Amino acid sequence: MCGIIGYVGNRRAAEVLIEGLKRLEYRGYDSVGVAIANAGTIEVRKDKGMIEFVSAQLDFISIDGHIGIGHTRWATHGAPCKENAHPHASLDNKVILAHNGVIENFTQLKNDLKTKGHTFRSETDSEVIAHQIAEHVNSMPPLKAFLKTLNELEGSYGIAAIFADDKDEQIFVARRNSPLVLGIGKGEMFCASDIPAMLKYTKTFVPLEDGDIAVLSANGYKVYTLDGSETKRKQITVDWNVEMAQKGGYPYFMLKEINDQRHFINETIASDVVVAKKLIEESERIDIVACGTSYHAGLMFSYLLQQRGKSAQAFIASDYPFIVKPNQKTLVVTLTQSGETADVLQAVRYAKKSGCKLIAITNVVGSTITNIADNVVYLNTGPEVGVAATKTFTAQLAIIYKIIFGKEKISSLSDLFAQMMEKENEVKQIAAQLKEKQNLFFIGRGISVPIAYEGSLKLKEISYIHSEAYPGGELKHGTLSLIENGVPVIVLAPTDDTLPKLFGNLKEAKTRGALIISLTNDEKTKAESNFYIELPILDPDLYPFAMVIILQLLAYHVSVLKGINPDRPRNLAKSVTVE
Ligand code: M6R
Repeated sequence: MCGIIGYVGNRRAAEVLIEGLKRLEYRGYDSVGVAIANAGTIEVRKDKGMIEFVSAQLDFISIDGHIGIGHTRWATHGAPCKENAHPHASLDNKVILAHNGVIENFTQLKNDLKTKGHTFRSETDSEVIAHQIAEHVNSMPPLKAFLKTLNELEGSYGIAAIFADDKDEQIFVARRNSPLVLGIGKGEMFCASDIPAMLKYTKTFVPLEDGDIAVLSANGYKVYTLDGSETKRKQITVDWNVEMAQKGGYPYFMLKEINDQRHFINETIASDVVVAKKLIEESERIDIVACGTSYHAGLMFSYLLQQRGKSAQAFIASDYPFIVKPNQKTLVVTLTQSGETADVLQAVRYAKKSGCKLIAITNVVGSTITNIADNVVYLNTGPEVGVAATKTFTAQLAIIYKIIFGKEKISSLSDLFAQMMEKENEVKQIAAQLKEKQNLFFIGRGISVPIAYEGSLKLKEISYIHSEAYPGGELKHGTLSLIENGVPVIVLAPTDDTLPKLFGNLKEAKTRGALIISLTNDEKTKAESNFYIELPILDPDLYPFAMVIILQLLAYHVSVLKGINPDRPRNLAKSVTVE
């Protein structure tokens, strides 16, 4: 998973590329580079490291020119280092490109090129594309050479390429299973892996579709399909502003996004679920596929549907094809905030082959999933930049609740979120108790279980503390052997019908010396807890929303207290575009 930005127009390209790369860094940040064309030559500067550091070290801003491309990388082929950083050049430095995705037949292409005398500077699959285009461009115009190369590639790509000898000053872009959006300005054009990278300059965009190629110049753009015929794609305008995609005064995106939940939830609630609801009501069997946090929302969906007598099950997307044989009567629902998760895309493509109808619940307009699904429900929660999903999770829950219960049930979520945010200082004190711990457990029952899973994932993802979550009844079937003096057990204990049994599980852990931290509004539970966060008295169906805000804050504060940047946890990327 990487980020691409491209610019052609009257501005200094370096400025636009640096700005765009900063916005794209959440997509990967192990190395970064730019290539800017000027008077027949292309200057490439790149290195291992993050944009702020590398651009200062290599003085990106001093490069003159009005057309260029930039890339922030998350390694897939070859370690993070200067040689493997993008942009990559052909042997003669005449073709330069940035690539996202994975070229599956790159070894074969590379071997063929070697027999023609090509030598390579990097271990990447991406460099091979530049060499391959250069092979063709000697005997045909750039667009034809670009097209011919794309037709020879197997795998996924988002590509932006420039040619040193191109007097028309054009950027050639393409997408297949890797996002690429065009940004339209006045006398200037942009391209990037996502919209926030271009928001400072324009609000008008063209999301490309899989198999599209586009040629951008200062005067506009043309879109082609892989066979070379010209086509048209829909322009969209978004009302996000740059502020919405930036930190807005918070130290980290994650904290901003936790706070944002109260501001955006009403826009989520306004989202149109009419078609989705009807499809769900009419379906005999519903398979929900998703990954990570989105899977936890999917699990909640399946619980609520099952409680209503529906045949519904949530599956981890990467395993779905190994477990299920869907048929035409199966309705598949996917939750994916990015709309680009490779595991999700392969699962839904598999389902679509069997004739299933697909509903996608996503946050990203123009993402790949929106081109595959029969019906799309948008989260409308603005861009989420922090790697840890927060506001998109509560937005997913809100959409699920709107489908199941209707809008009235969730009309006061904004106030509830504001009320829960007032607990931040108390949560911080509990975080201080946890920051030195090695192992931690979350328990809940019923609809609190997906929230326990989510609290545990959030904590381990950004604090690097080992944690596990269970339905409370499961502790005694094995995990209780891990409970000893001082091991924290976080108990999700709202006053609903799960409480009497969950209280027994709390006692089992406490007897073994566990440090009990509960989220509760029950006096008996408070009395048994070492620490607790008071929950308001709510409609029992709404406790998941209240508890997840606390658990997001808890993970955030443990992370910050440990000196970790919660926006960029190690080894993880915001959207996971490899299987
Ligand atoms: O974009 P998606 O919702 O499909 O992403 C799925 C997971 O990769 C994602 O939820 C991941 O688990 C988050 N980083 C968790 O905070």
